[in-house]
Amino acid sequence: MGGSGIKGARVDLESGEFIGDRIKIATPQPATPEAVADTIAEILRIAEWNGPVGITLPSVIKNQIALSAANIDKSWIDTDVQALFTEHIGEREYSVLNDADAAGLAEVAYGDPRAKEGVAILLTLGTGIGSAFLVGGTLFPNTELGHLIVDGKEAEKYASSAAKDREELSFSQWAKRVSKILKEYERLFWPSLFIVGGGISRKADKWVPKLTNDTPVVPAQLRNRAGIVGAAMAAESGIKP
Ligand code: BGC
Repeated sequence: MGGSGIKGARVDLESGEFIGDRIKIATPQPATPEAVADTIAEILRIAEWNGPVGITLPSVIKNQIALSAANIDKSWIDTDVQALFTEHIGEREYSVLNDADAAGLAEVAYGDPRAKEGVAILLTLGTGIGSAFLVGGTLFPNTELGHLIVDGKEAEKYASSAAKDREELSFSQWAKRVSKILKEYERLFWPSLFIVGGGISRKADKWVPKLTNDTPVVPAQLRNRAGIVGAAMAAESGIKP
């Protein structure tokens, strides 16, 4: 689930590829839990899918309760997501997790092999900044690095791709900001690799070479498939943060 669209697909977990087309429906406004659950039910009908479902939200998910709502309707806070989806969609297996965490799981399984080694930090640069910590390939969930205050500013307000668009920054100007937050993450967590995802990773050649931090930075390989594939992996393996 994202701010503009809710997207779903059946996933072949052997290959990490979609089976059939990705289905996309505009996010209902206001994007309340009930309205979003009804939209997900519609996607499942279109996909003709009755099996387990993985769902990602741009929220902290702890014990299957949404605890934050940074760029979505505030009514998500304290929502029991298992109860919500069971009520609106019906009894089946649901795994609900943070969107960046799901992308991290998918990159470990199907992306750059270095994501499995040491401490890799995946960042999704979009409306906000999402993060996934991958320690030897295992996810440490809900890290929320986009909300770290760097030099007096919240990282995602300063260096998300939405900030680039809003402030009409060039790739060079924006890369300076991204470098600044990466350096702060390096200073605190000493990762072995950064993986950068989100729509803007498609243009990685325009800005990744301009970064001035020390740790290698690689673009995410699954592109816009990562969230959906990671959600499916969580559903299949029963990961329920
Ligand atoms: C949210 C995170 C989310 C990220 C990307 C942030 O504002 O706090 O939970 O992963 O945006 O959507």
